[in-house]
Amino acid sequence: MKELYQHLNTFLTDGTVIGMGSGSTIEGYIPSARAYIEENSLNIQFVPTSVKTEKALHDQQLKVTFDTEEIDFTIDGANQFTADLNAVKGGGGSLLREKQIGYFSKHIIIAAKKTKETPSFEGVKIPVEINPFLMNLTKLEIMNYGTSLSDRMDGDTLFTSDNGNYIVDCTFEKIDDLNVLQNQMLNIPGVIETGIFNHYIKQVVSFDDNGITVYER
Ligand code: A5P
Repeated sequence: MKELYQHLNTFLTDGTVIGMGSGSTIEGYIPSARAYIEENSLNIQFVPTSVKTEKALHDQQLKVTFDTEEIDFTIDGANQFTADLNAVKGGGGSLLREKQIGYFSKHIIIAAKKTKETPSFEGVKIPVEINPFLMNLTKLEIMNYGTSLSDRMDGDTLFTSDNGNYIVDCTFEKIDDLNVLQNQMLNIPGVIETGIFNHYIKQVVSFDDNGITVYER
């Protein structure tokens, strides 16, 4: 992890506003970011992509803001990624805020284990956040695009996102065009956001015990 954290620290420059993603990779990195910020007396504000990340930032006494007019870049994790810089996110249920903060950032940097690289998202679980109202009709409409689908659960009850919505995990055995699929799902009223990140990623840093590999646009 040392090489990964050192690499991520190079993005921490004085006076920046940084989107901080969600998940175990990012939570593992936050204490290292704090140490680097302290050592170098940097003034950095963070926009957290989930309530959990907000708490982790507060626990490290890092500055949190939601009141900003620009975000320099976002550091985030991923469930799966391709070498041409697409990712599926939302395994932890934070896809909407991750997508919003990523969209308003100049760049997204993804840090993900090497084992998460995949040639395509066919057969991969793609989280989709949906409004609870008429959810069964929304789910049937999504299924028209050729996916099997399961409700995200939290024990015996439906998982509720930080935004009060539900999540369905969709698995498409065949994806002809990721952009088309993304737009088809977003066009369904009741679909709030998908976990497909196919535009905004500038860099994927994949890591394992031997070090890091950087894929860049
Ligand atoms: C959160 O909703 C996700 O998008 C995470 O960023 C993603 O699932 C990666 O999580 P891990 O770092 O825990 O694998």
